[in-house]
Amino acid sequence: MIFETHAHYEDKKFDEDREEMIHSLREDGIGTVVNVGSDLKTSEASIALAKKYPDVYAAVGVHPSDVDCLDEEGMNRLRQWASEEKVVAIGEIGLDYYWDKESDVQKNQRDWFRRQLLLAAEVDLPVIIHSRDAAEDTMKILKEFQESHREITQPGVIHCYSYSPEMAKEFIKMGYYIGVGGVVTFKNAKKLVETVKTIPLSKIVVETDCPYMAPEPHRGERNASRYLPYVIEKIGQIKEVSKEEVEQVTAENARKLYRL
Ligand code: NI
Repeated sequence: MIFETHAHYEDKKFDEDREEMIHSLREDGIGTVVNVGSDLKTSEASIALAKKYPDVYAAVGVHPSDVDCLDEEGMNRLRQWASEEKVVAIGEIGLDYYWDKESDVQKNQRDWFRRQLLLAAEVDLPVIIHSRDAAEDTMKILKEFQESHREITQPGVIHCYSYSPEMAKEFIKMGYYIGVGGVVTFKNAKKLVETVKTIPLSKIVVETDCPYMAPEPHRGERNASRYLPYVIEKIGQIKEVSKEEVEQVTAENARKLYRL
């Protein structure tokens, strides 16, 4: 069974058929889903989904573009939620300089990124990192964090990986998994294809980021975990192994990542 490491089924794009989509997961070959929060509301909604469906787990955290919703009270809520039984990670957290170009906004992102990394260390959970157009600062902050928390052996995943193969190797050296999704099937995905070719299969996990990032031949449509076989097939082609092997190894990796 496929392990879906990053989905947003609480999104309003699933309001019409959420129940149906989640009920059909096993028929579609998906064994486990981690539903990822991106602000306080969606973190709470992720926990609600995890409580309702046995195959769904939750991550709680605030996305860099949504950190305006955070304050001490918000951090306390995240801390409380982190101890809920089916919460397996803190995320998605990180830096996004693509949408936010002003230096004070970017500094604010870095501050809340650091705070949420500290929370993850405190509650002993891995992190789900969102990083876009912010490779250097992400690496710098994660390195500082590791220097001060050497006890962490399983730090987390770099989700929807978009940087160079060299940088992927560096993240892997630090203990991170690399999240690969629909982008790998796109015609212009040369860099990600090169990354997948370069890094070991034992460090790759698969994800949709649904409802976004649908793979070919569904690019532009609403994404869902049932499209993960296209991602798995493509990874198999790149690494010259069977889809069954990709499915099995990436599921094993995901269980290690989220300690399930
Ligand atoms: Ni996401």
